[in-house]
Amino acid sequence: MTKQIPRLALFPATTELNQKGHLTIGGFDTVALATEFGTPLYVFDETGLRNKCREFKQEFGKRYARTTVVYASKAFLNKAIAGILKEEGIWLDAVSAGEFSIARAAGFPMQQVYFHGNNKSAEELYLAIEWGIGHIVVDNFQEMAVLNELAGKLRVRPSILLRLTPNIDAHTHRFLSTGVTDSKFGFPLSYGGEAVSKALASPNVNLVGLHCHIGSSIFEVQPFLDAVDNMLKFAVEMKQKYSFELQQLDIGGGFALQYVVDNPAPPVAAYAEAITSRMAAKCKELKLNPPELLIEPGRSMVGQSGVALYTVGAIKEVPGVRTFACVDGGMGDNIRPAIYDAKYEAVAANKVSENDTQKVTIAGKYCESGDILIRDIDLPEITAGDIIAIPSCGAYCIPMASNYNASLKPAIVMVKDGQARLIRRRETYKDLVSTDFV
Ligand SMILES: Cc1ncc(COP(=O)(O)O)c(C=O)c1O
Repeated sequence: MTKQIPRLALFPATTELNQKGHLTIGGFDTVALATEFGTPLYVFDETGLRNKCREFKQEFGKRYARTTVVYASKAFLNKAIAGILKEEGIWLDAVSAGEFSIARAAGFPMQQVYFHGNNKSAEELYLAIEWGIGHIVVDNFQEMAVLNELAGKLRVRPSILLRLTPNIDAHTHRFLSTGVTDSKFGFPLSYGGEAVSKALASPNVNLVGLHCHIGSSIFEVQPFLDAVDNMLKFAVEMKQKYSFELQQLDIGGGFALQYVVDNPAPPVAAYAEAITSRMAAKCKELKLNPPELLIEPGRSMVGQSGVALYTVGAIKEVPGVRTFACVDGGMGDNIRPAIYDAKYEAVAANKVSENDTQKVTIAGKYCESGDILIRDIDLPEITAGDIIAIPSCGAYCIPMASNYNASLKPAIVMVKDGQARLIRRRETYKDLVSTDFV
């Protein structure tokens, strides 16, 4: 009888077991990937990523034709990813000149970029204008004044949206909640009117829309509906008060990604159905012309496509307490368990079909007791040299990676149809000192 392995459902859809009992992704044996490229290794499944782009576009687009899917590049961006997004017709949300410079280096159209951030520097705003960024999402009054002055000097009139906090508590980790009034992001709704009136009175910016992002990892649809209600209600008030016409409503990202077997995320279609029908109904009720709808998925877009591979080194048994299987990565490439208490699943990629016989704790190699990737997971007997594969690692691992303990940031490969291509090389010891002077 074949072993039932519910965890495999968290891996990319191209995941299979081969005759050796090894995990394959995109038709490539992950154990062979680990041998060829070394570990820690991040593996991205190109088919899964492209399918997810299409799923977001189709599920929202067929219900609300004027939807633009704007990928939140903070979840993970490099030149290869930007190239795929461009081909799939996905737009980009960038929160720094660094992020939009990566997109630009990949030939991504700058018109299709939304520039976010709660503390954009004058230099970043200048670059955004100079490089023809399509929209700037203004976060605060100071930024609005700086942008208006800069745009006047450069004789341009950038299109802007205002970021508002719609006072929604999205029931997520407090570090991931951004839609409440006590947030460092955006204008609280109570100052929203003043922000709209100032923007309309600023001759060098063109106010086209409103933006909110209520938080991340939101497993319920209701907070999004509350956000739509509050934002549209506000837009009507602004129409009545200042004749403001809402052309774009950006409701941000935050759609959940399934990390563990017993916490499934709603499918994209469920978010799409709820949000788009609420948009249509509310606009009708409020007699508002339906604006273009923007969504900014980050983790839900790339998360499932990415898998982290590690090699087991030391096995440490603390009798009567626990068994640690120490891997060659950890908080340097995935800080999420340490800062958010994030939970993950794993399989032993070279022993997938073997029965689970022990509980182990997968520990990283960094000099911090908190560097534990997974606490107490059932796995087959683990020995040195085994390859541990962790699913749902496509988002917020690589972009938050550090060189703590002077470790080298991992290599990244993209797999498709049995082919693997390196999309970022592993750092070298030379890289570690490449910006130093004596
Ligand atoms: C403005 C904005 N949009 C979109 C996102 C993406 O969120 P997620 O990756 O949870 O979809 C974020 C995340 O912080 C954000 O700040």
